[in-house]
Amino acid sequence: MKKISIIGNGNMAKAIIYGIIKDIEIEVVGRDINKLERLREELEGKISISQIHDGFSIDGKNIILAVKPQNLDNLSKMLRGRARHLFSVLAGTNLNKIKTNISADGYIRAMPNLSAIYGTSMTALYGDDIAMGEAIFLFNKIGHIIELQNENEIDIATAITGSGPAFLALIAEAMADGGVKNGLKRTDSEKLVKGLFFGFSKLIENNSSFEIKNLVMSPAGTTAYGYSRLESHGVRASFIETIDESVKRAKELSNLSK
Ligand SMILES: NC(=O)c1ccc[n+]([C@@H]2O[C@H](COP(=O)([O-])OP(=O)(O)OC[C@H]3O[C@@H](n4cnc5c(N)ncnc54)[C@H](OP(=O)(O)O)[C@@H]3O)[C@@H](O)[C@H]2O)c1
Repeated sequence: MKKISIIGNGNMAKAIIYGIIKDIEIEVVGRDINKLERLREELEGKISISQIHDGFSIDGKNIILAVKPQNLDNLSKMLRGRARHLFSVLAGTNLNKIKTNISADGYIRAMPNLSAIYGTSMTALYGDDIAMGEAIFLFNKIGHIIELQNENEIDIATAITGSGPAFLALIAEAMADGGVKNGLKRTDSEKLVKGLFFGFSKLIENNSSFEIKNLVMSPAGTTAYGYSRLESHGVRASFIETIDESVKRAKELSNLSK
């Protein structure tokens, strides 16, 4: 795939653009020409831009759909023609809804996350075999991918990797607050937390969470004392329920979009 059109110019679209701009020619399609021009400037003219209008042709194009789920109905009324492959990153919008709104030869639901901007997204994919090869090629450019077996699993992935950065941000913020509470300067505390997360990504890539915990926790040590407080406050159960709630919401949104 040499060229792609991205419909939407918001946070996720930008994250994906930064990830693929080196290798793929990009057209960004949006509704606000000033925002599109600012984006083109920010990217040193390396994208083309198009303002959407009634009868906007998607004929034969590869499309990444990156508008909000609630924008889909309006947007689809403006499009004409049949796209080649359509890659939708819309949370909680099932393939059936996308297929009835926008015509394409092949459809994929992709659930990336904001880390795409640094080429380190974890992206879940599900959809038509005919488009899967190109989906893997495309989303591999913005990080890791996992191909899932059914659409239900995309809702679960949405909770873990789509929403995940916000959940981890809460942990990061709370740990930095803990450092400040104990007397560290805010900037130093935040620097420590950032370093922790950076290093941890390699640790968790190469070890199980169980191994990491056991390697760090020594008898009657600081980790064992801190860890038992996490357990007594139900942090483990809270996180399981956090995923439960997010999955439930993704399914509600999926049902709304039928
Ligand atoms: N943010 C994340 O971390 C994340 C993670 C995974 C998946 N997603 C999914 O990614 C999608 C986009 O999320 P976001 O965070 O990027 O939202 P966002 O920042 O609000 O961006 C949405 C973009 O869609 C544009 N748009 C709306 N209607 C349009 C139309 N008719 N034609 C062309 N462009 C139109 C908006 O234009 P204006 O700028 O003119 O309003 C805006 O640029 C969502 O469906 C979300 O579920 C997001």
